[in-house]
Amino acid sequence: AVERTLSIIKPDATKRNLTGKINAKFEDAGLRIVAQKRIHLTKAQAGVFYAVHAERPFYDELCEFMASEPVVVQVLEGESAIAKNREVMGATNPADAAPGTVRAEFAESVGENSVHGSDAPETAAVEIAYFFSGLELVG
Ligand code: CMP
Repeated sequence: AVERTLSIIKPDATKRNLTGKINAKFEDAGLRIVAQKRIHLTKAQAGVFYAVHAERPFYDELCEFMASEPVVVQVLEGESAIAKNREVMGATNPADAAPGTVRAEFAESVGENSVHGSDAPETAAVEIAYFFSGLELVG
């Protein structure tokens, strides 16, 4: 089925001008960027987005990092977009990411791993709604 997923190009990647190279990988995989904006999150806004990780030891560091530089938030659309995006991103830890994936090529560490992508349809819906209104999604 055609799905939409929430993608974030993280501070380590925007800082190194990798937005275009990462978007090329998404588009080459057949994912359409139907919404996109560059924003600078506050630590509190990052904290709400990652609330599911609030009890993890890396939560504070993660929120600091996500607020350290601008991010690009985007909605990707396509056939099985959630799984396809996760394939293009590669494993969370770049040491485990398959060759050619975004994280294998660009990520600096398990924390500064260049991209985020929703992990399921329910989380995609919540995450998209956190950043975009319906009018901003242009399929
Ligand atoms: P993401 O897919 O955005 O979801 C949660 C994020 O937490 C993850 O990518 C990483 O950036 C971060 N993360 C996961 N595990 C660790 C870890 N062991 N140490 C630091 N950050 C982590």
